Amino acid sequence: MKEFVLYQNEELAPGYHRLVFEGQLGGVPGQFLMVKAWPTHDPLLARPFSLHEVEKERFSIFFQVRGRGTALLAQLKPGDRASVLGPLGRGFPLNEKGPFILVAGGIGIAPFKFLVKALKDEEIFLFYGARRAEELLLLEEFQKLGIKVFPATEDGSVGFHGLVTRPLEEFLAQNASGTIYACGPNPMLEEVARIARAFKVKAYLSLEARMACGLGLCLGCVIKGKGGRFLHLCTEGPVVPAERIF
Ligand SMILES: Cc1cc2nc3c(=O)[nH]c(=O)nc-3n(C[C@H](O)[C@H](O)[C@H](O)COP(=O)(O)OP(=O)(O)OC[C@H]3O[C@@H](n4cnc5c(N)ncnc54)[C@H](O)[C@@H]3O)c2cc1C
Ligand code: FES
Repeated sequence: MKEFVLYQNEELAPGYHRLVFEGQLGGVPGQFLMVKAWPTHDPLLARPFSLHEVEKERFSIFFQVRGRGTALLAQLKPGDRASVLGPLGRGFPLNEKGPFILVAGGIGIAPFKFLVKALKDEEIFLFYGARRAEELLLLEEFQKLGIKVFPATEDGSVGFHGLVTRPLEEFLAQNASGTIYACGPNPMLEEVARIARAFKVKAYLSLEARMACGLGLCLGCVIKGKGGRFLHLCTEGPVVPAERIF
């Protein structure tokens, strides 16, 4: 693990933080970092986070506070240090054919800023769903990137009233081409996989599992894929072709 100094901690909404670190990192969108910023053995392990943005001299993660590890990260101040391992795993393939259809559920939006910038000059559509307007974070930032954004909220407070997969399905019914990249809760990913299959569109899903080492050593992240084949999500994912899982 390597130490990096925190440049900025932005609380974008209660319980949602973007940590910007100083330093050069590299990597491709969809890869992740194991991050630890507490000197004690509690919690014992670093936590996995998608690369949110990578710039020449800085990189960031964007997360929701869930338990003890994320609560400790949320308290970091500029100048504090964090240990970072990565970039790890397999990211989104960047050589697929457009248009690119991004589907994000909640904090699943985290890897897409880096992805949109990497796919620059391509036609990009973002379907972004959350429970309510306050949880559609970064909406304006994505709108400013010049891509077409389709928001959806379960309470109807912004955009389509309902699950984000409905407008996705309607969109593909008009134009079933390109490649889908999705990140969000498992039920959303399973539905994206079903829709992609129905419209014969290639889909890549960024999946989550509990991760202890991030290096393929501990078996903590093993999930069962299609046909009963097991895969290590930390080394064979987290981005996986939809047909390997659902
Ligand atoms: C490859 C990868 C990339 C990720 N990227 C992001 C990101 O960009 N932004 C973000 O907010 N989160 C991301 N996560 C999830 C993040 O790692 C967890 O929220 C974090 O580890 C929770 O740590 P904690 O100590 O705060 O919570 P804990 O105390 O460890 O757990 C709190 C609660 O969260 C649940 N939980 C913890 N980790 C996971 C997990 N991996 N999957 C499902 N449920 C979990 C636990 O079951 C428990 O209910 C990612 C996970 C993976 C595997
Ligand atoms: S997290 Fe240890 S094997 Fe994947």
